Parts: sequence; C-alpha cells; structure tokens
Amino acid sequence: MGERICLYPGSFDPVTRGHMDIIARAANIFDQVVVGVLHNPDKRGCFPVEKRVEMLRKACAKLENVRIIAYGGLLAQLTREENIRVVVRGVRGVADLESETMMARINHQLNPDLETIFLPASPENGEISASMVRQLAAFGADLSAYVPSEVLPDILAAFAQS
Ligand code: PNS
Repeated sequence: MGERICLYPGSFDPVTRGHMDIIARAANIFDQVVVGVLHNPDKRGCFPVEKRVEMLRKACAKLENVRIIAYGGLLAQLTREENIRVVVRGVRGVADLESETMMARINHQLNPDLETIFLPASPENGEISASMVRQLAAFGADLSAYVPSEVLPDILAAFAQS
C-alpha cells in the first residue's frame, strides 16, 4: 500500500489551537499531512499568506509528517497536482457541518477522486475561530488559550503595529 496522505486546507489567518488539534490528530491517522494555506474569496485577509505559512511552520515544527504549503488556486486542482485523494476538515457544530458538506460535494464534483472526511473539534476547541482570535487581538485581550504559544509573539507584534 502507498503512503497515506491528506490535505488539511484552510485560511489559517492566523493558525489557532483548534487548527493544531485537527493537524495533530490527522498526523496520527495519515503518513503525511499537507497543510494548505488557500484563498477563501469570502474572507478579507488579515495576515499576509507568507506570514500565515511562517506561523504554521513554527507551530508544526515538532510534527515530522506535516508539510506546509500555500496555493492560490482551487483546492480540487491542488489535490490533482499533489496526487492527494483525501481532504480533512474540522467541524465545530452543525453550522460548520452544513457549509462543509456543500464544500465537500463541490470539491468531489470538481475532482471525483477526492473524498473529504470531517473530524469533530475537541470540546475545548469548540468555540475557537481565527476571526474570534483577530477580534480579541484587536482589543488587546489575552490570546494564550486560543493560539499556539509558538506564534503568540508574532500575533501580538502584528496587532501592536496596527
Ligand atoms: O479556513 P477556511 O476559510 O474555512 O477555509 C476555506 C478554504 C480556504 C479551504 C476554501 O475557501 C477553499 O478551498 N479555497 C480555495 C478555492 C476553492 O477551491 N474553492 C472551492 C471550494 S467550494
């Protein structure tokens, strides 16, 4: 059997403890996890893509089977180029499940070789989102429970400048 590889795509603007939970669990299931920083046209970006990649690399440094990439095109195209047949997404509740199901169906239509599997967010991460982290950061709240400790200084520095 070949190497079991999956793509964990997202905006990661910035990476949160919720993302790290999914990455670590995917890394236990798959031989290799490719974390893809992709473009979400519905969201106005906060951190530049290069900074998101840099923060993910710091946060995932100890996970040997995790690789971080950035990609500006369609997820379905990326999976073809990387020969990946499984996408992993985390779901926090029914609202996520609804939108994620639609996304999974579209990606499967665009690339019929592709399957999406959902991992339920751990209960302690059920409320964490990157948008909430950005909002808390803008008001100077304590972020330590929500973002990986390796990237906390980067996030604080970015918001101190703005
Ligand atoms: O972290 P997010 O914002 O929920 O991630 C969404 C993301 C980036 C995975 C999604 O917007 C995406 O796949 N973007 C790439 C473009 C694409 O393939 N769109 C079609 C999916 S329906």
